Amino acid sequence: MLKMANEGKKENKLQDNKLKEDKVIPKKDEIVAKSKKVDIVINEKKVDIVKKEKKIETIKKVLITEFGKRFFVRNVEQDFHTNFGVVSKKDLKSDASIIKTGNGTKLFAHKPAFIDLYSRIKRAPQIIPRKDIGIIIAETGIGRNSIVVEAGTGSGALCFMLANIVKKVFTYEIREDFFNIASENLKFLGLKNVVMNNKSIYDRIDEKKKDDKGKNDFPKDVDLVALDLPEPWLAVENANALLKSGGFLVSYSPTTPQVSDFVEKVKKIESLRYIKTVEVIMRDWEIDERKVRPMSASIGHSGFISFVRKV
Ligand SMILES: C[S@@+](CC[C@H](N)C(=O)[O-])C[C@H]1O[C@@H](n2cnc3c(N)ncnc32)[C@H](O)[C@@H]1O
Repeated sequence: MLKMANEGKKENKLQDNKLKEDKVIPKKDEIVAKSKKVDIVINEKKVDIVKKEKKIETIKKVLITEFGKRFFVRNVEQDFHTNFGVVSKKDLKSDASIIKTGNGTKLFAHKPAFIDLYSRIKRAPQIIPRKDIGIIIAETGIGRNSIVVEAGTGSGALCFMLANIVKKVFTYEIREDFFNIASENLKFLGLKNVVMNNKSIYDRIDEKKKDDKGKNDFPKDVDLVALDLPEPWLAVENANALLKSGGFLVSYSPTTPQVSDFVEKVKKIESLRYIKTVEVIMRDWEIDERKVRPMSASIGHSGFISFVRKV
């Protein structure tokens, strides 16, 4: 009996030591992006654990060679090594727009704009190209007062480009791994107007429910529902319920059967008016003195964009 009690105590002590080890106490000079306190219960003891969140380091400077090769500098507190020579930290911290590497190579330098950060987001599933995002914005006229619902989030390429110009984006992603990648991308871009949801857009989106913090953060009076999903027709009824009168439903699909099933579903709903389906073909040109001609690389297909309006 006594032996068992002693062993129990020993085990508790081991647990206590383990907890001390697990407790992550940031050292003074340790860089921790954000730490959050988490309550966990072990052996009926409530313990505060400081959980380290992954540090997301953003880009501080963009360097470009004369031939257009770009370098993204995250730490300006140390020299930056390139295959064109070393850029000193003094130059990185300066506001100079033209700097020279240790071996005399000229580099153009500027602070990163949204588009520079955007070009560096992590990619998981296939992202929607910018040419296709452009037409969604131009055809729907969304702007600084617009509320947007978007799915599936994927890497967040469409979501973040829209968030950069509208008031708020509610985005839905069914897969946890993609949701996590998009959440990291969101932190990296520093956008504050995106509500990320790890759930299916096909499920009911209840406006009256409150979020974890008791805030009523559910979409209503939506100006645009933008879909990039394998089965967009399954989201049409939900989209119709969310959209305000005059709002747009836009679906992006790479294949024609997806377009067909989506449009047929829309046509069954009286309050939705199908407008059109388009494909955007963009051709890059080569300009070299008087040698001005389309690039020889072929134009690839990306997707069809279908536009629908709520009446
Ligand atoms: C092609 S990707 C979207 C890419 C995204 N538009 C971008 O630009 O980064 C399609 C996404 O839809 C997600 N998905 C599929 N079914 C879904 C559903 N029912 N609800 C929410 N997301 C869904 C997939 O997991 C995938 O991440």
